[in-house]
Amino acid sequence: MVTLIVAMGENNEIGYKNQLLWHLPKDLKHFKELTTDHPIIMGRKTFESIGKVLPNRTNIVISNKDDWFEEGILIVGSIKEAIKFAKKINEEIFVIGGGSIYGQTIEFADVLKVTLVKTALKADTFFPKIKGKEFLKTEEICHEADENNEFDFCFQTWERKKN
Ligand SMILES: NC(=O)c1ccc[n+]([C@@H]2O[C@H](COP(=O)([O-])OP(=O)(O)OC[C@H]3O[C@@H](n4cnc5c(N)ncnc54)[C@H](OP(=O)(O)O)[C@@H]3O)[C@@H](O)[C@H]2O)c1
Repeated sequence: MVTLIVAMGENNEIGYKNQLLWHLPKDLKHFKELTTDHPIIMGRKTFESIGKVLPNRTNIVISNKDDWFEEGILIVGSIKEAIKFAKKINEEIFVIGGGSIYGQTIEFADVLKVTLVKTALKADTFFPKIKGKEFLKTEEICHEADENNEFDFCFQTWERKKN
């Protein structure tokens, strides 16, 4: 099963200048709970934005660069290779971004785990539009902003519709 996991604003915005747009510790905890013990696939820019290997998960990073190496990650040259390696590790794979990788993988996604952040911010990177004819929202749990989490947000699950 391929799950795309993302936090996006009301206009599908996800990042600006290779950084996230908000600070939401509750979302980071949710991300950690869902992805721990599963392979995670990301683009090279997202890996550099995170700035470290995420522990207790096989970090698979997609890049075209052939002169690039980082300890503790598996570097592959295509989406296909990333999914092939990930499937050998665990049946449940998480694609964690960024925009270019989401755009190329949403067609394979079985599930979308979306944190919808109730704000609209300046961005240069976006999640693809979720098509209602392809995905059905099956769960939504909302939280209000608090002293540590700067915006209201909802954890949503979208499942691919069966034909
Ligand atoms: N809000 C969220 O949930 C979330 C999650 C993740 C990321 N983000 C944000 O998204 C932004 C980064 O996204 P992005 O779209 O700029 O970059 P990205 O998708 O993280 O990485 C793009 C890089 O991945 C490699 N790549 C992509 N497709 C490839 C392919 N088919 N074959 C081989 N290599 C491929 C290339 O690396 P090389 O240049 O090395 O060849 C490319 O430059 C940041 O602002 C980050 O903070 C947000």
